[in-house]
Amino acid sequence: MLSGASWPIRPTDASLFRHSVPSWTIFCTLWAQFRPFSAKSATHAACKGERTRPEAAFPLAAAAIFGNLARVHAPATDDGLWMTLALAEARKGLGRCAPNPPVGAVLVKDGQLLASGWHRAAGLPHAECEALAAAASRHGAAALRGATAYITLEPCSTYGRTPPCTTALIAAGLARVVYACVDRNPQHAGRADAILHDAGIAVTAGVCADAAELLLRPFFKVRTTGLPWLIWKTAMSLDGRITRPPGEGQWLTGEAARADVQQLRATVDAILTSGETVRRDRPALTLRTPGLLEGRSQPWRVVVTDHPSTLPPDAPLFTDAWRERTLLRAGTDLTTMLRALASEQGVLSVLVEAGGRFSAALFEAGLVDEVVIYLAPLLCGGPVPALAAANLPASLQLADLSVTQLGADLRLRGVIVK
Ligand SMILES: NC(=O)c1ccc[n+]([C@@H]2O[C@H](COP(=O)([O-])OP(=O)(O)OC[C@H]3O[C@@H](n4cnc5c(N)ncnc54)[C@H](OP(=O)(O)O)[C@@H]3O)[C@@H](O)[C@H]2O)c1
Repeated sequence: MLSGASWPIRPTDASLFRHSVPSWTIFCTLWAQFRPFSAKSATHAACKGERTRPEAAFPLAAAAIFGNLARVHAPATDDGLWMTLALAEARKGLGRCAPNPPVGAVLVKDGQLLASGWHRAAGLPHAECEALAAAASRHGAAALRGATAYITLEPCSTYGRTPPCTTALIAAGLARVVYACVDRNPQHAGRADAILHDAGIAVTAGVCADAAELLLRPFFKVRTTGLPWLIWKTAMSLDGRITRPPGEGQWLTGEAARADVQQLRATVDAILTSGETVRRDRPALTLRTPGLLEGRSQPWRVVVTDHPSTLPPDAPLFTDAWRERTLLRAGTDLTTMLRALASEQGVLSVLVEAGGRFSAALFEAGLVDEVVIYLAPLLCGGPVPALAAANLPASLQLADLSVTQLGADLRLRGVIVK
């Protein structure tokens, strides 16, 4: 953790040193966490789920930590910085722990990290319990007395698949619990505060709540509407076409953008495509980047078609090693189909990878929450638009827009204003 002792870049932002010793410890911990990634900032990466290439990691992470982090993304207190670390833990659960939310936790005492944890899968311990167990086995249970827990979601206070986390936090003898988001489950919302207070534990809520919300919004959407969070992803030319002229091959974008799609797929529980795209492209829709599949299943692959008998039976979706992760669904009522994916498969988040007609149907039904467009520096012409929407009642506005260059391509990402 103290790799920062040999850090070759000296911090220049005095605001970082208001809490100099513990903050430095946190930076070193963050550095260890973010070393495999480059990012616009460490906090930004934690919130947005944007892993990028390792070779750029060092200078960018340094700039992030010593430049932007304190000023732009604002966790200027130690609470904020430790919560940033908990958020990085939470991100590890994306695409893995549905129908449960991705949650991370860290345990801290006297400015030192005791342990961290994340929720790995439904039925396995919640993040805070994983961190408690790791700290106890590493330092002994007595070390937890008087410690502070940083958790990205209010700890649960009822019996589910596992016992209430509030009980475990009290039993461990913690002095303080800091959490980011209040749980919107009415059975839990706000209850943890009173339970912990009654046991003599100080509680602070709302630290980095906006950042945690970004990770938790699919969970909250399913809880409040029964529908999963839907991300529309497409690769298009500058003239809005999604196929190249005949004979030019299938890919519009380059390797960096396609590697980024792998990272995006790894954050979702299901990938949605159309019968026509399967007939034309025979996509595999799998995680193929080494490491992404470790300890998890492929996302569900859902083919929406009213003509299943015309699908190619030898397509990878029906023949590869993960064919049991392929589902066929009718397209007559997309809302009901998505609701069933949430209730039957426990899906929280869905990535759409399809052509313009199917995409249009999803937009027209108001089902899309987020847009990720890979824009290739090409003009392709041709008959297949990215969005063949004839009946949008009004133009859709994107908020929280980010633009990232990936090789020669651009990625635009934003959330639909509703
Ligand atoms: N560049 C990219 O990112 C990208 C990604 C994917 C696909 N593509 C390209 O997109 C092309 C296909 O685009 P496309 O516009 O012709 O087809 P599409 O939008 O991919 O699919 C249309 C099909 O979706 C199915 N569907 C199910 N429910 C529907 C509903 N409610 N409304 C509309 N369709 C529904 C129907 O399949 P059934 O006929 O089976 O019932 C329909 O024929 C392919 O050439 C592929 O290469 C590009």
